[in-house]
Amino acid sequence: MSDAIRLPAERRHAEELEALKASDHEPVPPGWILSPRAVERFVLGTGDEAISWQDAGGQDRSTVVSKKFYGHDVLVQRAIVTLASDRGLLLIGEPGTAKSWLSEHLAAAISGDSLLTVQGSAGITEDQIKYSWNYALLLAEGPSERALVPAPLHVGMSEGKLVRFEEITRAPHEVQDTLLSALSDKVLAIPELPDDEGYVLARRGFNIIATANTRDRGVNEMSAALKRRFNFETVPPVEDLNAEIQIVRSQVTDLLEQGGHGGTVLGDEVLELLVTTFHEIRGGRTTEGVKVDRASSVMSTAEAVSVGFQAALHASFFGKGRVEPDHVALHLAGAAVKDNQTDLGVLRSYWDVAVKPRAQRELGLWKAWWQARRHLV
Ligand SMILES: Nc1ncnc2c1ncn2[C@@H]1O[C@H](COP(=O)(O)OP(=O)(O)OP(=O)(O)O)[C@@H](O)[C@H]1O
Ligand SMILES: [Mg+2]
Repeated sequence: MSDAIRLPAERRHAEELEALKASDHEPVPPGWILSPRAVERFVLGTGDEAISWQDAGGQDRSTVVSKKFYGHDVLVQRAIVTLASDRGLLLIGEPGTAKSWLSEHLAAAISGDSLLTVQGSAGITEDQIKYSWNYALLLAEGPSERALVPAPLHVGMSEGKLVRFEEITRAPHEVQDTLLSALSDKVLAIPELPDDEGYVLARRGFNIIATANTRDRGVNEMSAALKRRFNFETVPPVEDLNAEIQIVRSQVTDLLEQGGHGGTVLGDEVLELLVTTFHEIRGGRTTEGVKVDRASSVMSTAEAVSVGFQAALHASFFGKGRVEPDHVALHLAGAAVKDNQTDLGVLRSYWDVAVKPRAQRELGLWKAWWQARRHLV
């Protein structure tokens, strides 16, 4: 077992990718490892149906492909089509809606490599995207291919793989525009090298998946020229409460197993309290249609996963290994309120408006959830 905190998607799901490849009978776009249909199955899963395939040693195997992304199938299909076309893909949306998650899994299924990633920030420079130099060699020998240190764009273009550009709208304009010639002419110029070596022509399979968060600097900050070279795909928050419960359940279970806490129990009722609370505060309305205040902090599915995981760790370290509503409430303020005291008021008023009536009707664990209000300080 690896002691890495987190493995990239292509290693976490290596068997699934192998199974999909071995059973893939549809045309595979040049430079891709799987057909578009198989990429879709990797992202959306095969349900209860197992894939039958033969491994390299000729053994018959059977593998269920897990569901990674919960959302509209057409969104995933459109994203796959865009990546096979001559345009880049930009996934935009609220924080924590699985933009990075989707981009990682698409890159794993299409190129078998999700690690060619550039992280956009105000301080990013062109050489972190294109290439830089080994200065000792550069000084000793002058510019040469040997002295060149390729960055993700160089690798993606020369090996024909997808390059991920996270939070692209946080990068300065001129750095973003580095992508223009890569996307339109499919060439990366290296003016320091002699003419016949001074460029990389993108191999088939190369494309760019960028993500942008609507809460950070606006997507409008991208130049019109660059915008034209991307297809935009908005990733909405999970609409369906049950789907969100499933996401949190499977993610927390995975995290617990990876951390060696597989014996800790996060029961369905506690999970429902946690996810319903996030879902309703985010949507501004309860399932009964009562209006509730929205918090200014991010109450995304991703935050629900981390509160669920922390509550489970708490139960494992200091409780009896079974997550109680109190454990969840203890970690809610740190995840949701952060340093915003107004949001504490939002949480407390949610308890008055939404939790109390359910506690009075003695619904499931809602009474214990009402009592857990004392931790919201
Ligand atoms: N629709 C969804 N399907 C599957 N998982 C989801 C979904 N929405 C959120 N998640 C979970 O939320 C987590 C966070 O997602 P991710 O980090 O990709 O968000 P993001 O949209 O990139 O956020 P940010 O804008 O802050 O970078 C993922 O681990 C994923 O499990
Ligand atoms: Mg992200």
